Amino acid sequence: MSKHFDVIVIGGGPGGYIAAIRAAQLGFNVACIDEWKNAKGGPAPGGTCTNVGCIPSKALLQSSEHYEHAGHAFAEHGIGLKDLSIDVKKMLARKDKVVTQNNEGILYLFKKNKVAFFHGRGSFVKAVDGGYEVAVGDESLVGKQVVIATGSTARALPGAPFDEEHILSNDGALRIGEVPAKLGVIGSGVIGLEMGSVWRRLGAEVTVLEGLPTFLGAVDEQIAKEAHKLFIKQGLKIELGVKVGEITVAAKGAKKGAATHVTVAYTSAKGEAQTLEVDKLIISIGRVPNTTGLNAEAVGLRLDERGAIVVDDDCRTNLPGVWAVGDVVRGPMLAHKAEEEGVAVAERIAGQHGHVNFNTVPWVIYTSPEIAWVGQTEQQLKAEGRAYKAGTFPFLANGRARALGDTSGMVKFLADAVTDEILGVHIVGPMASELIAEAVVAMEFKASSEDIARICHAHPSLSEATKEAALAVDKRTLNF
Ligand code: FAD
Ligand code: NAI
Repeated sequence: MSKHFDVIVIGGGPGGYIAAIRAAQLGFNVACIDEWKNAKGGPAPGGTCTNVGCIPSKALLQSSEHYEHAGHAFAEHGIGLKDLSIDVKKMLARKDKVVTQNNEGILYLFKKNKVAFFHGRGSFVKAVDGGYEVAVGDESLVGKQVVIATGSTARALPGAPFDEEHILSNDGALRIGEVPAKLGVIGSGVIGLEMGSVWRRLGAEVTVLEGLPTFLGAVDEQIAKEAHKLFIKQGLKIELGVKVGEITVAAKGAKKGAATHVTVAYTSAKGEAQTLEVDKLIISIGRVPNTTGLNAEAVGLRLDERGAIVVDDDCRTNLPGVWAVGDVVRGPMLAHKAEEEGVAVAERIAGQHGHVNFNTVPWVIYTSPEIAWVGQTEQQLKAEGRAYKAGTFPFLANGRARALGDTSGMVKFLADAVTDEILGVHIVGPMASELIAEAVVAMEFKASSEDIARICHAHPSLSEATKEAALAVDKRTLNF
């Protein structure tokens, strides 16, 4: 006997669990299926984000930042510490506890909102009268509407499969048991920089090999250059424009106790043959949409050449009543983008007009300093031939940043040359992840840089740098 639902959500990551909760709030009878297992084999909803992504990486970033501050920044405040040490096992246990709290929080939210949760893999069986049959283990569910939110998985390099001991995806990178003497990272994208920062702060010598000749090509050039300079100063070794060749892991038993285990052959930007020898190698070269086990063929669900589910602007697939959101569809692979799509789809199912404004989806890289942006970059505006004005303000001239002892970076505004509408805001500096929210609100309300320049900002606060950058658009900063 099948169990019948108005809406079945496949995948319990940020796209799926939020879609399920919003659909339940709107009065639907909802099921959410998720297959993630915790260490004991029990349910662990929350997807990549909660289990091996946003949450655990931020937990480790926080721990490693405390360690770095204690080792390098405290002395300047007159705080002396003897015998500073790091207990990696304890740090990882704390991270795991944070993850578990989030898993449990989601299970609680399902209960609170009366979402029926099924632990297991959801697979399409067939289209039925007025909906779709989906199997989970031995159970058969029928949903009038189905929302697919099956996420993404790490992309491997050909010939170098993840073993999670020496060649690590984001999963292994989050549970290295002791600080490696030498850590290699392939790909200087978001994961490479965040995870590279964690282990560098804890004492590893970190070398990042990037295929492209430019650093953080999607980021505003001025901000990327500043960030690059700061990361190099911190001790991250970043080689751009390389071509990675063969990756070999030392044979088991060979040279017991040897310091290096993975060898990466590569060609440098100058065309020279090089090798990098490291204890651990993180490969962070992007992620691929995940439809494994979904049995998409059974119902004729259309995928593109990358394996992403094809959707329209409203997340409708080619099948009536089947929607898809998050990493498994086009667009940035970000948790908050997945959530926004989840809400919009639930509202569309209810006949409302849920909508995601991709132009105001913020990006944050949680390094130190943090990098955050929303809207267009200066290079995009130039390429479009759009007339714009730019204003920047350095944190060096911000009183709160000086008091914090964190004066690196800047805020940058880009505004239309004629209307003054804000087109993009780019930040590298302390708490950029929080500061960017003001820019997102401003852009959603189509504010001008003058609007921000005229709003009273608390003193002393980092947000004054945002106001000053808005003033700088009109060349009238007050404190610089
Ligand atoms: P996912 O979170 O991947 O969830 C999909 C879920 O569906 C999983 O639980 C999976 O097991 C389940 N599933 C798949 N197939 C089936 C099936 N057939 N049946 C049942 N269940 C199934 N984004 C940010 O915005 N901020 C960050 O700070 C950030 N940090 C990150 C750090 C790392 C190391 C990584 C790897 C990613 C990070 N991301 C971050 C990206 C973010 O994790 C993803 O964008 C987000 O998780 C996508 O959500 P989703 O719901 O689409 O998919
Ligand atoms: P990414 O797309 O951010 O970066 C991948 C990097 O690898 C790029 O710079 C690319 O040029 C490089 N690369 C690709 N192939 C290569 C090769 N063969 N050799 C050398 N370099 C190569 O991907 P990443 O870091 O794996 O992260 C995946 C996604 O996860 C991100 O794009 C983001 O959507 C999400 N994420 C978001 C975070 C956040 O919001 N703070 C944190 C971590 C991940």
